[in-house]
Amino acid sequence: VESEARLVPLLTKGHTSVARVTDDWYVACRSRDLGKTPLAATILGLPLVVYRQANGAPAALLDRCPHRNVPLSIGCVKGDHLECAYHGWQLDREGTVKVVPGLAGPHEARGRRVESFACREQDGLVWIYLTPDEEPKREPFAFTWARDRSYTTVYQRLRAVGTLHATAENALDVPHTAFLHRGLFRKDKPERQRIDVVVKRWHDRVEAEYVGEARPTGLVGKILAPRGGTVKHFDRFFLPGIVQVEYALGASHFIASAALTPVSDFETDLHAVISFKLPIPGFLLVPFLRPIALRIFGQDARVLALQADTIKRFGGEQYMSTDVDVVGNHILRLLRDAERGPRKPRESVEEPVEKRLTMLV
Ligand code: FES
Ligand SMILES: [Fe+2]
Repeated sequence: VESEARLVPLLTKGHTSVARVTDDWYVACRSRDLGKTPLAATILGLPLVVYRQANGAPAALLDRCPHRNVPLSIGCVKGDHLECAYHGWQLDREGTVKVVPGLAGPHEARGRRVESFACREQDGLVWIYLTPDEEPKREPFAFTWARDRSYTTVYQRLRAVGTLHATAENALDVPHTAFLHRGLFRKDKPERQRIDVVVKRWHDRVEAEYVGEARPTGLVGKILAPRGGTVKHFDRFFLPGIVQVEYALGASHFIASAALTPVSDFETDLHAVISFKLPIPGFLLVPFLRPIALRIFGQDARVLALQADTIKRFGGEQYMSTDVDVVGNHILRLLRDAERGPRKPRESVEEPVEKRLTMLV
């Protein structure tokens, strides 16, 4: 009994970093996955239906027929309208009821509508602005390198069981690579190299620049830069959930970005877009690198799921951080601020908050 009493204060409930940023863009699906049939997508727990209008442009509505609450995603597209599978009501892109089959008189459309969401299609992805019935305040993130023909670009969709924050931090976290991905990416060596890190945070993004880092040891480093050398390395996070890792060495350039879509509080989809220009041709490298990348992701996914599970079992998070948790706390802060209120436009010029630190890699 006594030991139980001593345990209780340890199990205090922390809060969980489930930030719900709704006035921004998230990837619903890949362009090529959206054909003639409507698709169901869930973002931050919100059920949505995505479909293509007659001109091919994507559209999104709340996935609930206003008549009897059947999911509209089981319906079909009729010209510019979405037709419900149950009684055939037809809705337009704004979510207004346009056709009620069998109704003899004219129907009063006013008030009979469902929430509608702005859509964009770019870089092979379909984006949804998560605040309904509103003009977007900004444009979706642009995967600039994927548009450059001199780069090889690979796409991969992945699912992590973890919050958006935990998943984003994991993608940009350096210290875990020597342990969780031992040998694949970095090694835990007795002799570590001292490097400087410059962290800059703007209102909508954070960037960590690792200065003077030697090519990562381990298999991936050897493939990317067989002759070794000093790499330029940046890790970045952009609101509401873009992670980016950039490596440059001589003429080689490797830039892996992922758009994170929070499906629910503890499920996050990653739409990874990896672009690179290397001495070895891309088509030779991709079949070799993909299984390694998937193996690395499998190790991350396993640890994220266990992290989420532990957070749930303890009823909340309790983090202890140090300087080498370079961007995690900044990501959390950006998400919390964005959740609370409106943001400046992405293009706005401002001096970043800057911090310099030293770490051993
Ligand atoms: S439930 Fe959709 S038309 Fe009746
Ligand atoms: Fe990892």
